[in-house]
Amino acid sequence: MSLKRNIQDLRKRKIEVQKGGGDKAIEKQAAMGKLTARERILAILDKNSFHEYDLFVEHLARDFNMENKVLHGDGVITGTGTIHGSPICIYAQDFTVAGGSLGLMHARKITKIMDHALKMRVPLIGINDSGGARIQEGVNSLAGYGEIFFRNTLASGVIPQLSVILGPCAGGAVYSPALTDFVFVVENISKMFITGPSVIKSVLGEEITMEELGGARVHSEVTGNAHFFAKSELECFDQIKTLIGLIPRNNTDKAVKIEPKEPLKKYKIDKIVPNNARLPYDINDIIKSITDNSEFFEVMELYAPNIVIGFGRMNGETCGFVANQPKVLAGVLDCDSSDKAARFIRYCDSFNIPIITLEDMPGYLPGADQEHMGVIRHGAKILYAYSEATVPKITIIIRKAYGGGYIAMNSRHLRADFVFAWPTAEIAVMGPEGAANIVFRKEIESAEDPEAMRQQKIEEYKTKFANPYVAAAKGYVDQVIEPFETRSMLLHALSVSENKSVSMPRKKHGIPPF
Ligand code: HXC
Repeated sequence: MSLKRNIQDLRKRKIEVQKGGGDKAIEKQAAMGKLTARERILAILDKNSFHEYDLFVEHLARDFNMENKVLHGDGVITGTGTIHGSPICIYAQDFTVAGGSLGLMHARKITKIMDHALKMRVPLIGINDSGGARIQEGVNSLAGYGEIFFRNTLASGVIPQLSVILGPCAGGAVYSPALTDFVFVVENISKMFITGPSVIKSVLGEEITMEELGGARVHSEVTGNAHFFAKSELECFDQIKTLIGLIPRNNTDKAVKIEPKEPLKKYKIDKIVPNNARLPYDINDIIKSITDNSEFFEVMELYAPNIVIGFGRMNGETCGFVANQPKVLAGVLDCDSSDKAARFIRYCDSFNIPIITLEDMPGYLPGADQEHMGVIRHGAKILYAYSEATVPKITIIIRKAYGGGYIAMNSRHLRADFVFAWPTAEIAVMGPEGAANIVFRKEIESAEDPEAMRQQKIEEYKTKFANPYVAAAKGYVDQVIEPFETRSMLLHALSVSENKSVSMPRKKHGIPPF
């Protein structure tokens, strides 16, 4: 064949394979409000940057009449491209081909691009839209999942791994996203569960829809499996691009520095916290009064909102923020907020992102519910994560810093590099009311006017302990600062910490309270 004929033949083959499961299956995909696998990749990556590999891979299944079935690309598209000019490895399961089910060769395509991402030290994005293990391929499908999970674990903490759930992600398939760093879900499209509604009905006799069982909201608000919730696929892709712009491409790199901008004037840092310490406020306003251009990219916004985590830039460089949210449960620490914060702290530490902690919380949430859910174990995760982190760690104590929470929220004792407190800070073993009731119980009970005595003792306690100066006198707080100094103190502390170097005891790995 002449070169011209060869090229024509190649083009024809490519067009044929790129049809995926064919027009009818593509129409069905569109009718479900979903883009195709190829459209998704092209929408996420920079224009004309996608390069596909293994287009002509074919499945090897021979049972259940599979030998006569053509599965284009074996139900998954893999390749490389760029986002904001930075290289990315990507795969997208193609639901139009055998429901995106995972057989041996489908898995091999995925593991090949995963190996590539790890070797080249670039982020990996996986788009999940699949009926799970390809039933006709039996143990080969299970083996394929195992190979993926193993690589997810190897790559963890080395390259960023993003999972995008854009359809069903059923059975064992859910464990790859669960092993990755960030999971993106889209309303009405994402469905994640171990056991589907039909099995639940036959085993437990319970009726439940896929949406109620494992829809996007469930995983964003209830389970905490998802980190970013979007109303449409395009909004989801914007979130992916924003995140990729904020994080480094591997654990030896730093995030790209951009031209710094001052925070917007509308955020007035000294007007946000109410004079009455019992009143709530939105910690997001404080964060935005500190960050460049008042931008803050929140992670897990809908889960455990009593703590706020996310990325913002300081002098053009990405920082991770961990902040109690006084407007939800007074910002208390509980099982879920501890999990949420601890995982984020470890992410920042793995990827060289300095951590800024904003503190205003009354401690750990009391009650049998929390105790029985394991607040001891979950709460310990924050202590572990901060203690272990060696990136620059700076704390601003805004208001309440009570009890175990004072220690947990990146205190000096867990090796914070800098601890600054506002004059409104209250650093104490517990809140003044609780403390006065316990310590002065006898005096209060025997007083002529117990209520007046209680108030007097509360005031005494406040004056003595509920301020930043006792901690500052011990050097636990480095400086008491005025609110307007917060950004400049942080910028200075970050620049001083730029070459921070600490060594930890040699070990294979620690044993965190998982
Ligand atoms: C083979 C599959 C498949 C699968 C779907 N298909 N799932 N083929 N193996 N797991 C095929 C269908 O036969 C159909 O092929 C096409 O994909 C589209 O599927 P539909 O059912 O028509 O689509 P829809 O109505 O949208 O329903 C989607 C679905 C449903 C909810 C995902 O297909 C489903 O429940 N699939 C099984 C999900 C599941 O239980 N998976 C877990 C497997 S066990 P045709 O040729 O008709 O177009 C598992 C364990 C792994 O994953 C453990 C690893 C550790």
